[in-house]
Amino acid sequence: MTVLTPLDEPALVRLLEAAVAGADPLEVMPPVEGPPGWTAARRAAFLAFHHARSLNPATAVERTWVVDVDGVAVGAARLERHGDAVEAGIWLRRDVRGRGIGTQVTALLLAEAQRSGAARFIASTTADNHSARSLLGGIGAALTVAGEEVAADLPLS
Ligand SMILES: CC(C)(COP(=O)(O)OP(=O)(O)OC[C@H]1O[C@@H](n2cnc3c(N)ncnc32)[C@H](O)[C@@H]1OP(=O)(O)O)[C@@H](O)C(=O)NCCC(=O)NCCS
Repeated sequence: MTVLTPLDEPALVRLLEAAVAGADPLEVMPPVEGPPGWTAARRAAFLAFHHARSLNPATAVERTWVVDVDGVAVGAARLERHGDAVEAGIWLRRDVRGRGIGTQVTALLLAEAQRSGAARFIASTTADNHSARSLLGGIGAALTVAGEEVAADLPLS
């Protein structure tokens, strides 16, 4: 069963484990200088990134959830307010991709977006990200391609 668990300190520890176990740092946070892989600096940056963006009320800009499948952390989902819209983002561990979990998480995020009172659900991805494009097209979002960037926009009622 796939559920979204609101991020808190214990959940953030589980989320870092999921990222290290099965995601590329560039898929889950902004670039950090240094040798490739999950160095100590990148692990610290991952924790600082989520503290700043979600956990610290003074700086928070988004709500983040751990994606739990049968009680195991396999990725993250987020909603960030932009005016009357909420921007969604998802990443999953490589070993669980392609099994429909992204589709389930998108539906759960969409329900959260509707509960938040936002007028639009938006997301962005790259032209070569076929699974993300399928996810966003699948919920009925309008997709606009501009070069390598794809913007998704879905009005909420
Ligand atoms: C994007 C991501 C969240 C999708 O989650 P997922 O669990 O793999 O997706 P699903 O299994 O639910 O599949 C979603 C759709 O993509 C399609 N799909 C899955 N893997 C695919 C692949 N490798 N190539 C093409 N299409 C693919 C599925 O067929 C499905 O389409 P359908 O609904 O038309 O049948 C996941 O791949 C991921 O974490 N990627 C890395 C981070 C990322 O790119 N995040 C999105 C940035 S906006």
